[in-house]
Amino acid sequence: MNSTPPPANSQLQALASDLARKQSLVVITGAGISAESGISTFRGIDGYWARFNPQELASPEGFARDPELVWRWYDERRRQILTAQPNPGHRAIAELEKHFPEFLLITQNVDGLHAQASSKKLIEIHGSIWRVRCMRSGQEWENREVYEQFPVKCRCGALLRPAVLWFGESYQPSLISRAQKAVNSAEAVLVIGTSGQVWIVSGLLAQARQNALTAEFNLEQTETSHSVNYLILGPSGQTLPQLLSELTQLSP
Ligand code: APR
Repeated sequence: MNSTPPPANSQLQALASDLARKQSLVVITGAGISAESGISTFRGIDGYWARFNPQELASPEGFARDPELVWRWYDERRRQILTAQPNPGHRAIAELEKHFPEFLLITQNVDGLHAQASSKKLIEIHGSIWRVRCMRSGQEWENREVYEQFPVKCRCGALLRPAVLWFGESYQPSLISRAQKAVNSAEAVLVIGTSGQVWIVSGLLAQARQNALTAEFNLEQTETSHSVNYLILGPSGQTLPQLLSELTQLSP
């Protein structure tokens, strides 16, 4: 990647004409895609990890140490997300899905906004903030309740936990193999709104085919930027609809 990428719109036109010739696309998203829906990212200036210690809140040790603190933090995020709506970036990805015979969206986000934007071929690789798991039986179910008592308990009396992936926990093997299989065969991979700080992004990109077309959508350069064919700088709520419009003109 040269140091100062050209303006996004000429890049978007070139990316769209490359994408128009592809049959299979994988999209990987992070917290940045939900920023324009009013949901804080993790590592930005006002990000979650600027104010909290991830090990205290998003780890089995932190939960064992203080389940009430962890539940109050997740409950605050659930309440914030409850009022959030998918933004034009989420909706553009849901439309992109229709343009490719083979498509998979792999999101690190747990907010559920891609599903709400009608993305269908979707893996929530870090789980969902709307699902809970019984610490005794391991059973999981969706629960959108606004809790008043903390920590949250199961009917059986055991603690419930958010069914999200915490630091130090392993990815669900079935999700990883599905994601890797999709990236192995994809002709194009878009990486959107992620700092790439967590293994899954670099791990999946490393699985991409040598000749796969790769593009990153972000507000700024990241560690991923040097290895992609296109770096589209700007808010994804604007740049993704622009990409979709360019693509629709080329292959309606
Ligand atoms: N448009 C595009 N990119 C954006 C926007 C936007 N409007 N706003 C922020 N970004 C970018 C930031 O520049 C940053 O690179 O989104 C990225 C957000 O990075 P993080 O806050 O690190 O979030 P993410 O990459 O999703 O974190 C990955 O880490 O803490 C764990 O489990 C958590 O899933 C999360 C994982």
